[in-house]
Amino acid sequence: MNAIVSDNPTMVSREVADLVIGAIRKDPDLVLIPATGNTPMGAYARLAKQMRRDAADVAHVRVFQLDEYLDLPPGDSRLLSGWMQRSLIDPLGIPPANVTGFRSDAPDVTAMCREYDAALEAAGGAGLTILGLGPNGHIGFNEPPSGADLPTREIALTPESIRSNAGYWGGEARVPLRAVTCGMAQLLASRQIVLVVTGEGKREILARTVAGPVTPDVPASFLQTSPNVTIVADRAAWGDLPLP
Ligand code: F6R
Repeated sequence: MNAIVSDNPTMVSREVADLVIGAIRKDPDLVLIPATGNTPMGAYARLAKQMRRDAADVAHVRVFQLDEYLDLPPGDSRLLSGWMQRSLIDPLGIPPANVTGFRSDAPDVTAMCREYDAALEAAGGAGLTILGLGPNGHIGFNEPPSGADLPTREIALTPESIRSNAGYWGGEARVPLRAVTCGMAQLLASRQIVLVVTGEGKREILARTVAGPVTPDVPASFLQTSPNVTIVADRAAWGDLPLP
């Protein structure tokens, strides 16, 4: 585990954007798994601006969606695929054919998850995964308890995630109760993982992630077991933790 601790969220965004640009430069065929949620949005905006300025070629970058709510109809404004499209795919100009997503209204969720894992494996696995940190230690929608071997699958949102997601959509009643998530196994196998964490509200769960026991009760704590993880945090989130 490595950590970059920056003064503020703007500097965190800059660090994350630089890491992504570096990864695409090194591997133009990069397989990227990007989180939605609030934390990485500044990084994505910065990334798009910088890539446009550099006229960087993203024609071969492939994107696998990290997670998606279930039971929403196509076009619903709460779809995480739409959020990813608006914040990352469109601004970067990644060709639609390069995106592997989840269908919120999939008739057979298990089959969709198996297809996703097979497609990710066929693509050589994730080259770079950008994660946010849930208030309960979830990564993607791998809700506690989630062990390291769990594959891509359907999950039920925990009350804590429903509360945190309510902020995106204007109330708990608007948060779907089920989701699919890229599995712990697929995420932990990523050749590079960037965990982006900002704000004092994440301080306690970040401390448990970095310095607590490795346990399914804090799925993010399994990141301690991977040498390929870089945490990019601001001082408010990092607090007094020693640098690894
Ligand atoms: C979003 C996702 C979630 C968020 C996490 C943090 O695709 O998978 O794990 O990354 O809930 O969300 P924010 O950044 O809004 O605090």
